[in-house]
Amino acid sequence: MITGASDGIGAVAAKELKEQGANVIITGRNPKKTQRVAEEVGSPALIADFADFEEVRRLAEEIKAVAPKIDVLANNAGGMFKVRHKTKDGHEPNFQINHLSPFLLTHLLKPNLMAADAPRVINTASMANNYGHVFMGHLDSHKSENIAYGTSKLMNILFTRGIARKWKDDNIVSAALHPGVVQSEFGRDSFFVHAAYNNPIANRILISSEQGATPIIDLASREPREEINGVFFFRHKAGGHENYQAKSESLQDALWARSEELVGL
Ligand SMILES: NC(=O)c1ccc[n+]([C@@H]2O[C@H](COP(=O)([O-])OP(=O)(O)OC[C@H]3O[C@@H](n4cnc5c(N)ncnc54)[C@H](OP(=O)(O)O)[C@@H]3O)[C@@H](O)[C@H]2O)c1
Repeated sequence: MITGASDGIGAVAAKELKEQGANVIITGRNPKKTQRVAEEVGSPALIADFADFEEVRRLAEEIKAVAPKIDVLANNAGGMFKVRHKTKDGHEPNFQINHLSPFLLTHLLKPNLMAADAPRVINTASMANNYGHVFMGHLDSHKSENIAYGTSKLMNILFTRGIARKWKDDNIVSAALHPGVVQSEFGRDSFFVHAAYNNPIANRILISSEQGATPIIDLASREPREEINGVFFFRHKAGGHENYQAKSESLQDALWARSEELVGL
């Protein structure tokens, strides 16, 4: 099950995992793009905007109807969003789309993960976690989209470690990854970021979505499963450079508890 698979590295990972013989279910936000990839991988085209918790809850029901057992949940949907546009639920968009909605979806799909023999949750974080900072009293207020994005990606690692500790007895493991600096549709909501990722110099420096997808593909089946639990990978290498806050168990717990309240769990 891969979110954000209508484009970029999620679409590539979905196609490659299908090639390798997996039953793949994908989600996207744009119906047309999602439909195209869904047809290629033999999945229903499941649509939801992560800026809306109601849509995420509906999506979870649709996923449950087609996938009673989930071996791998790849939380990959996301991007860098303008901080001044609040979501329908009133949150700063990077916080909701990149952290709160995947947090909610993962919880709603937990029974389906537990129905699998060796389930895992793979979270597409980023090396941008290094310039984030989680202030528990100000989760929704950021002045810059860079900081808001980096903070949401730090939250992906905190969530990964939360799963690794809290769901250990449920047999669920979790890993986070930085895919590389990838030329995709990333940054499409920001003129400057999109321009930085799409120009003649970037064309030569950035890696392709095909290359960017390989860590997701690898972590979907990498063994032994226990060794990836709670680990942040820089592409395929365990122990990616991370924010000093990322290992704080008290912060993992505080963010987890507050996220539960905010998504209504
Ligand atoms: N590109 C990089 O350099 C880079 C580096 C580090 C981490 N990442 C992370 O990698 C992941 C994939 O990014 P990408 O590079 O493949 O970018 P992309 O080509 O822009 O793909 C992003 C995917 O997320 C979906 N998405 C975006 N906003 C959404 C929303 N509000 N609700 C539901 N789905 C939404 C998109 O759906 P639609 O296309 O249907 O709108 C698309 O499928 C992201 O989490 C990103 O933060 C990327």
